[in-house]
Amino acid sequence: MAENKSWVLMVTAQTPTNIAVIKYWGKRDESLILPINDSISVTLDPSHLCTTTTVAVSPDFTHDRMWLNGKEISLSGGRYQNCLREIRSRASDVEDEKKGIKIAKRDWENLHLHIASYNNFPTAAGLASSAAGFACLVYSLAKLMNVKEDNSHLSAIARQGSGSACRSLYGGFVKWIMGKDDNGNDSIAVQLVDEKHWDELVILIAVVSSRQKETSSTSGMRETVETSPLVLHRAKEVVPKRVVEMEEAVKSRNFPAFARLTCSDSNQFHAVCLDTSPPIFYMNDTSHRIISCVEKWNRSEGTPQVAYTFDAGPNAVLIARNRKVAALLLQRLLFHFPPQSGADLNSYIVGDKSVLMDAG
Ligand code: ADP
Ligand code: DP6
Ligand code: CO
Repeated sequence: MAENKSWVLMVTAQTPTNIAVIKYWGKRDESLILPINDSISVTLDPSHLCTTTTVAVSPDFTHDRMWLNGKEISLSGGRYQNCLREIRSRASDVEDEKKGIKIAKRDWENLHLHIASYNNFPTAAGLASSAAGFACLVYSLAKLMNVKEDNSHLSAIARQGSGSACRSLYGGFVKWIMGKDDNGNDSIAVQLVDEKHWDELVILIAVVSSRQKETSSTSGMRETVETSPLVLHRAKEVVPKRVVEMEEAVKSRNFPAFARLTCSDSNQFHAVCLDTSPPIFYMNDTSHRIISCVEKWNRSEGTPQVAYTFDAGPNAVLIARNRKVAALLLQRLLFHFPPQSGADLNSYIVGDKSVLMDAG
């Protein structure tokens, strides 16, 4: 370390969020975050929905601290501690010649971090902020501490922050393999196809409400596993078949199969939420009207034009088969849910799929 001199070393990274088309809902191990089924997601364009995180280290820092969207949050939770511990244990020597800083591998144990993270979209509103947030945290810490592990190892660490985060380490379509081991080492994300593979797709997000949800994903899925008679049937019988079919649909760019699977899986996820006791309602009337609108349109065309999926919140993620359909979809949404009409939709965010970007 540079002696008798005050210094700060910083890294900034940006990570997009991902939206599951075959949903993860339920854990078999709460502390390691091991799921009861595989899941598949699409990673979004970071220019629309992303987290930007800056991690800094300095001998002047007396303890680890973190600010989320400008407000200090506690790092005492197990998830933050697990991610910090796993990354710290893999740190290597770091040298910044220009600043005259040398940090030896063993120094990392005694150095403290300041972390500032900002989501450019609503936090805890069902748009997967925990996915972008923890993926970005792990990625930026790994850069700062010169961790040599590849993205697949980093995905297993991000998973311990939030399950869905493991899928944000890759662009394109990504599968989270549930794994078999009790230690979670084989519960990792793999890229199925990159972001260029199906570049006709356009993703449109209709923000129905940016309010924080009442039931977090973590507690919602815990209650489902404890009380829903349907969820095991879903995890054991339905999802394994859908995962195989979805991989095939994505690889062959089969939009009708993709749309059928995406919509059915979203609907079944919300059905198991309703099957939970007490029932969990993530969608609202506006969400239901969006579903009806897309279903009617798809039926009238004879073949699906748009797929919909809703995470743990009322906001719609709409996937149009191409740009022309996306323009028509936006027109229809503006007609049925005019932004000036009062309560319905707040905004539309349009984007392609994309890759993890390193801004540091
Ligand atoms: P969402 O649907 O937005 O993923 P969750 O209930 O799954 O909602 O998770 C929200 C939680 O994720 C937040 O309360 C916070 O603890 C964590 N989180 C969100 N954004 C970040 C971030 N940028 N960095 C670290 N943690 C984050
Ligand atoms: C509906 O990953 O947010 O978005 O692992 O407890 O942090 P924790 O939950 P989280 O759950 C995501 C649930 C979902 C579906 C999905 O992303 O697969
Ligand atoms: Co989440």
